[in-house]
Amino acid sequence: MITQVLVLNGPNLGRLGVREPEVYGHATFDDLVELCRTTGRTLGLHTDVRQTDDERELISWVHEAADTRMPMVLNPAAFTHYSYALRDALAMRTAPLIEVHLSNPAAREEFRHTSVVAGVADGTVAGFGMMSYQLALQAIAELIAEAGDRTAGAADRIAGAEP
Ligand code: DQA
Repeated sequence: MITQVLVLNGPNLGRLGVREPEVYGHATFDDLVELCRTTGRTLGLHTDVRQTDDERELISWVHEAADTRMPMVLNPAAFTHYSYALRDALAMRTAPLIEVHLSNPAAREEFRHTSVVAGVADGTVAGFGMMSYQLALQAIAELIAEAGDRTAGAADRIAGAEP
């Protein structure tokens, strides 16, 4: 079964390739889309990769994920550090959520050390460049498989309880 996963990216990530390459590397946003697509395919995931500079639009995609029980990989970019509106939207999630970062915010400026998103995510992958997204997709696949096992286990127990 193919599972649909939203891979959401916040402000300035559409500029990958030209944006501070010494921090974010030379690969472009299109390269990231392709990497997510191919990585997802090997994991049985269909990735829908989106980017916006607009907080309202990003939040509307998070609502869409909640309404359709879609897992998310999210690089909130600068919103990570201050958007309580984004955090509140993510708190309504109904499926796994992994926060990702290309760089390691903990090793950078002080203002990047706070993530208001981390507390409502299943986990965070940071500091591995585009490999952060591959690891996050792997984590999503594992979480989905675990949830499937639990559901199957519960079904077995109910079936076993029948006379
Ligand atoms: C980032 C880290 C954030 O601090 C920054 O504002 C970004 C990118 C990352 O992927 O390393 O825009 O999320």
